[in-house]
Amino acid sequence: MPQNQNKVTYGIDRMAFYIPEFYVPMTDLAQARGVDPDKYLGGLGQENMAVLPPDQDIITMGASAAEALLTDDNASPIDRRSIDLVIVATESGLDASKAGAIPIHGLLNLAPNCRTIEIKQACYSSTASVRLAMAHVMQHPSSTVLIIATDNARYGLNAPGEATQGCGALAMTVTQNPSILAIDPEAGYLTKDVMDFWRPSYLDEAIVDGKYSARMYLTGLINTWGQYSGITNKTIDDIDRFVFHLPFSTMADKAYRRLCQHTDHPEDPAEYVAGKQLNQQIGNSYTASLYLSMLSLLLADDGSANNELTGHTLGFYAYGSGSVAEFFTGTVIDGHKKYLLPDYHHNQLTQRQALSFDQYEDYYRFQSKIMSRDQGGNISIPTVSQSAPFVLTRISDHIRQYARS
Ligand code: HMG
Repeated sequence: MPQNQNKVTYGIDRMAFYIPEFYVPMTDLAQARGVDPDKYLGGLGQENMAVLPPDQDIITMGASAAEALLTDDNASPIDRRSIDLVIVATESGLDASKAGAIPIHGLLNLAPNCRTIEIKQACYSSTASVRLAMAHVMQHPSSTVLIIATDNARYGLNAPGEATQGCGALAMTVTQNPSILAIDPEAGYLTKDVMDFWRPSYLDEAIVDGKYSARMYLTGLINTWGQYSGITNKTIDDIDRFVFHLPFSTMADKAYRRLCQHTDHPEDPAEYVAGKQLNQQIGNSYTASLYLSMLSLLLADDGSANNELTGHTLGFYAYGSGSVAEFFTGTVIDGHKKYLLPDYHHNQLTQRQALSFDQYEDYYRFQSKIMSRDQGGNISIPTVSQSAPFVLTRISDHIRQYARS
């Protein structure tokens, strides 16, 4: 579809994800927990689950994702001095006071004249970050805002939510006249105080009412869609593809079905099926999840007529438990493929190592240990990652030490 070349737009200029080198196949998890594998593979739609090793955390994952985007040789280099705002969106924060954006800013050698903050509202905070970044670049048109969504989803060994764990980071820049996605100003958004999922600060695992959380997710979708379509007079026919926050991949099917039922729209799998592949391999990455779905959709575009996305309207649904929801739209920019780092992303998925089940449980327990008040303040960290750009090396006097590897 032709784009108006003269219109000033705001949105996502670059994107890259980072996932650790380790995963557990869902079939292994099912066997160990005595569950029919079809429940995880078919019912939840998951194949593998990314696992955080001892020498990685939200800082190393976030810095690695951003490093990939900043050192992309195929695209024109980003002027690091133009980055004057770094926002870390996470619900796996390591410090109640100091923002995770500060050590990431240091590891990336960004310019000192920069604002660095961490923001929180469950999985929604990445979308809040995008809105904040857009407001910033509207005021400062030559600025680049770096957003890093980084999380480690933990529900507990043998907990009902275990099969929906995962981890990873997604970095993106927001600029004026972006190269990947122009985001529309209109949105439907909702706050509803519910206890569907939460994590008191003294716990390192989330408490969740799983079925209720899925209902709240869908309630938020119908509400925000209603608000969005009321403001814009748009119908489902105006949206070419849907991009959902994915706690697990079949949530997209439930969401799309509910929206179609609500609007008396016939279901068309082509509108939503793409965009689930990364989630199926990684699991829930909380704040990164919605934008991973978008990247998944764009990376799957092989240029064939069915898949061509340039000029198409994407409809996004962000949901953060607790809860805040938002429905918004954006247009895919001509030439976006140049900025998607397909080889780097492909290698991220194909060069991983499957953990034995015992190793998975050991890595899980190690994270509990370093998050504990008694054991986490002074601890040396085994190096297990072979190709991670950044690693956590030790914790001394409650200070995390990192190295470029
Ligand atoms: P569960 O009770 O173990 O699973 O919990 P289930 O019994 O609901 O089964 C799951 C699906 O598998 C069902 O499909 C079953 O029918 C099917 P559905 O009926 O829903 O379409 N199934 C099978 N399919 C094939 N063969 C079989 C078989 N057996 C069953 N043999 C639950 C699942 C997701 C609730 C749990 O894992 C959980 O609590 N997860 C965490 C919470 C969550 O992901 N909530 C989602 C919405 S809230 C959200 O997205 C926000 C969040 O990201 C946090 C944030 O915002 O920060 C979580």
